[in-house]
Amino acid sequence: MNVALIGYGYWGINLARNVVQNSKMTLKYIVDTNKSRIDLAQKTYSGVSVIAEFDVVLKDPNIDAIIIATNPASHYELAKKSLQNGKHTLVEKPMVTEMTQAEDLHEIAEKNKLTLMVDHTFMYNGVVRKMKQIIDSDDIGDVKYIDATRINLGIFQNDINVLWDLATHDLSIVHFLMGSLPNTVSAIGKCHIKPNIENIAYLILQYDNDVIVHIHSSWMSPVKIRKMLIGGDKKMIVYDDIEPTEKLKIYDSSIILNNENREQLLVDYRIGDVFVPKYNTQEPLALMIQDFEQSIITNRKPLSDLQSSINVIKILKAAQASILHKGREIQL
Ligand SMILES: NC(=O)c1ccc[n+]([C@@H]2O[C@H](COP(=O)([O-])OP(=O)(O)OC[C@H]3O[C@@H](n4cnc5c(N)ncnc54)[C@H](O)[C@@H]3O)[C@@H](O)[C@H]2O)c1
Repeated sequence: MNVALIGYGYWGINLARNVVQNSKMTLKYIVDTNKSRIDLAQKTYSGVSVIAEFDVVLKDPNIDAIIIATNPASHYELAKKSLQNGKHTLVEKPMVTEMTQAEDLHEIAEKNKLTLMVDHTFMYNGVVRKMKQIIDSDDIGDVKYIDATRINLGIFQNDINVLWDLATHDLSIVHFLMGSLPNTVSAIGKCHIKPNIENIAYLILQYDNDVIVHIHSSWMSPVKIRKMLIGGDKKMIVYDDIEPTEKLKIYDSSIILNNENREQLLVDYRIGDVFVPKYNTQEPLALMIQDFEQSIITNRKPLSDLQSSINVIKILKAAQASILHKGREIQL
């Protein structure tokens, strides 16, 4: 399978490496409009055509698949051209920024019988998949809350706010774990640096049965935190992505209402062992690229399919509307 990569920036470098390492793929082109990125790609991949013109790739009948890793505002136009020219297409997150754009791309992909996929890398992460397995097996009981923090001194984007940049990851994880959309979305965000681009935001999702999800995203934190707490009514999960080895811990702890003191509503704490489950440590990006390649070869839906992208976009659009209305609850 002959592949072209569009955008050789921070993330494009990782994608190029994983395409080259995939035994069924051959990286034929790297396209970037920036001269210094072209020079860097040429130095790294001598056997690959490194060019600035996307049209050359579109016209090359030997190219089967295109991976788009440019800035989000350009995704829609590039993906549309890619699909219209008969290429299977993988788009970086966030795939697009409007629902109509997602629907449009879906229609072209269906019409031309092409794979269209978004890179929600965390759906391929061994820790996230282990958490899904643990939740689905009812080991932690009913999930009551998820609390996610993804903050650091981040790169300020020009075309998307911090939720579209960082919360996209948490939303793809939350949706993967919960399997359904929330009933309501509310968010508050502030633009301290660039006008109309929120650099810090707090997002709340509410589901049936009083399940609540809170996501904190920021480009203005002096420390890097990538943490997710999941509270079940039997056990609780702590996922710390910064931890080098023990990223996932299951706390056999819970809170029990003391039956003998029901009138006073006294609670007891059940504090048990802490388990460190084993999880797959394969690079998630390699698995994502493999899923793209296998979806094309076997003509099946990828895990990180268009619907997963649409679900995330729906929540992000609602969050944006809520921010505009000072945190008002938006029904989905
Ligand atoms: N899945 C993940 O974990 C993850 C992580 C980081 C970034 N991303 C996503 O990857 C995408 C790129 O992010 P980045 O951090 O690498 O950005 P970046 O700015 O470092 O790189 C983007 C590159 O695309 C090039 N480019 C822009 N428009 C182009 C065009 N029309 N044709 C050809 N080249 C073009 C730029 O010159 C630049 O080199 C974004 O959508 C981002 O959200 C995903």
